[in-house]
Amino acid sequence: MVTLAIETSCDETSCSVLSEGKVLSNITSSSVHLHASYGGVVPEIASRRHVDYIFPVYQKAVCAANIKQNDIELICVTSGPGLPGSLLVGISFAKALAVALDVPILGVSHLEGHILSAFIDRDEFSERLDSLDYVSLVVSGGHTSIYSCSGDSIFEIMGQTIDDAAGEAFDKAAKVLGLGYPGGPAIEKTASEYDGDKIIDFPRAKLKRKNDLDFSFSGLKTAVLYYWRDCERTEQERRRVSYSFQKAVVGVIIEKVRRVLKRTHSKILVAGGGVVINASLREALKNLATDTDTRLILPRKEFSGDNAAMIAFCGERMYKKGIRSDLRLVARPAMIR
Ligand code: KG4
Ligand code: ZN
Repeated sequence: MVTLAIETSCDETSCSVLSEGKVLSNITSSSVHLHASYGGVVPEIASRRHVDYIFPVYQKAVCAANIKQNDIELICVTSGPGLPGSLLVGISFAKALAVALDVPILGVSHLEGHILSAFIDRDEFSERLDSLDYVSLVVSGGHTSIYSCSGDSIFEIMGQTIDDAAGEAFDKAAKVLGLGYPGGPAIEKTASEYDGDKIIDFPRAKLKRKNDLDFSFSGLKTAVLYYWRDCERTEQERRRVSYSFQKAVVGVIIEKVRRVLKRTHSKILVAGGGVVINASLREALKNLATDTDTRLILPRKEFSGDNAAMIAFCGERMYKKGIRSDLRLVARPAMIR
């Protein structure tokens, strides 16, 4: 079976061709540079760029996969969560293509795509993924959640952010520090240049709420804001703040994941989302896995940030299980699973 997937939930226009779990192509064009001067994604600009990029990206994906468009047997498209206008561009394009090629269309959750992204190109799991129980961490610009999963399904949301997502916190802290957008890669680079040993002890929210597995990053962001306002703003200090901030975010994430592993007794941990590209986080997850005797499965970098391959991978599995959509498919900007 040949599946084409379309992902346009935020500022990446991506198309992927996949066949029987194997990625044949995964082409992504980002409008991130157009949002840089605003310090965050501008929904109107993102939607307009999707309109411009979607057809060339689709053509490139078909060409790179070395297929003809008539070979496509299923069209999967991200139906949510995401920016409404951006989702609608992808969904409308997918519907038009489904009608033109006379093939079925299937709406796929962006979050389930991120969850399953770690299993792409991992042959050892292709047979047993259906019966696999695992913990999944999704850390991106829009989400910071830990799920308990079984096969393709989210069994339980164990913890989630009550304010900013981790990626959003990186983006906001970078803005305060004058490091530009997107903030994650900028903070990571600046932090890596810090060669001192004095770390700023930024507050790590201790939630007094019922669920101590939830995240809160807004206090940390505010602490960075006040610290930077009052300190002597040298390059070295910028590096120190970046390093300390990153350490605090990674520390909070690791602590929550550790608790979830303990509570669920799970021995398999997967992760997904743009923040997983961060080398300190990857390193800390590896150490946690070693400490807790847990198998860690991280996605390849090209499948960590937003991409259509994860939507194709997830969608093909859903379709084979009999899950169907039709041309009445709508965007669900706030869907949670
Ligand atoms: O998964 P993603 O591409 O899009 C969403 O679904 O949100 O994640 C984008 C987020 C941005 O907030 C970006 O700053 C963050 O991932 N990010 C990083 C790094 N690369 C991207 N955060 C920390 N370190 C990185 N190296
Ligand atoms: Zn995402």
